[in-house]
Amino acid sequence: MIGRNDPCWCGSQKKWKLCHFPNKPNSFAATKTATPSLKEFYKKKYGILIKSPKEIQGIRKSCLLAADILEKTCAMAKAGVTTLELNDYAHALHLKAGAIPAPLHYGEPPFPKSICTSLNEVICHGIPNATPLIEGDIVNIDLACILNGYYGDCSQMVVIGKTTPDRQLVVDVAYECLMQSIEVLKPNVPVSMIGEIIEAYAKKHGCSVVDQFVGHGVGIEFHENPQIPHHKNSMTIPLAPGMTFTIEPMINKGVKEAVVDPKDKWTARTKDGKPSAQWEHTLLITETGCEILTPWKKLSGKNSNEDSRKDSKGSKF
Ligand code: MF3
Ligand code: CO
Repeated sequence: MIGRNDPCWCGSQKKWKLCHFPNKPNSFAATKTATPSLKEFYKKKYGILIKSPKEIQGIRKSCLLAADILEKTCAMAKAGVTTLELNDYAHALHLKAGAIPAPLHYGEPPFPKSICTSLNEVICHGIPNATPLIEGDIVNIDLACILNGYYGDCSQMVVIGKTTPDRQLVVDVAYECLMQSIEVLKPNVPVSMIGEIIEAYAKKHGCSVVDQFVGHGVGIEFHENPQIPHHKNSMTIPLAPGMTFTIEPMINKGVKEAVVDPKDKWTARTKDGKPSAQWEHTLLITETGCEILTPWKKLSGKNSNEDSRKDSKGSKF
């Protein structure tokens, strides 16, 4: 972590406290955030792609589509429905909109389906299959689209009927972790603030934070820099307007450790078999705060149907 009196990360030779220190209002406004120099600086120093207004338009469209398909797919998740049926439905909605499901054939070995469905003790990257959902299941539905070459990525939990207290707890804690970390996003806040907030909230509620999987830059590629850790960390990179990335905390009732299925090489389960939950948004850093680019309506738990769209006042994008 750099100190207030250390040289600023931007290379100005000024002290950090006199330059881009987060508490200094409008410190970024002075640098004219979308100037090529900031873009170049982030690319060179961090490998981060600061997006142009035109790119943001494309990413926003893709994210809106992802949120819409996610809502429709989650609404279908009921007892008796298989995760394969959810996959096929979501896949068809992508095609209908002229989009490609980003997970399909992604990675190594190629992910075999179009969405991830992660049930109960599955942390993430669950593969849709022919097993029907049953009362008490909690399932994460994670989808990402490619629309006109731009990526949008989001997920939410669905609780099937009434579930156990432990399962409900991780669902609620993971949601709060996501939304509370979004609250603080604005230019100059260090990336580490996200993990700080998430880990503090999770611990306070008797849960652990998975550190083997992280959020990520997204938009031009599926997974871009920076990585966004959800656990306590020391990533000093300051957020800057035009950054687009996901926050997708995975919160466990028991230990934080994940074990990846040795056969399919994707399904990540909790080591102790206890429940895990995850919610995800794609976010845009604006001049004054952030905009949730994937404003899905929350379908399960407290405040269901709440619109997660956040005020983006002052956004010039
Ligand atoms: N939101 C998930 C992630 O960024 C989506 C994974 S899709 C997969 O990891 F294909 F990688 F499984
Ligand atoms: Co993601």
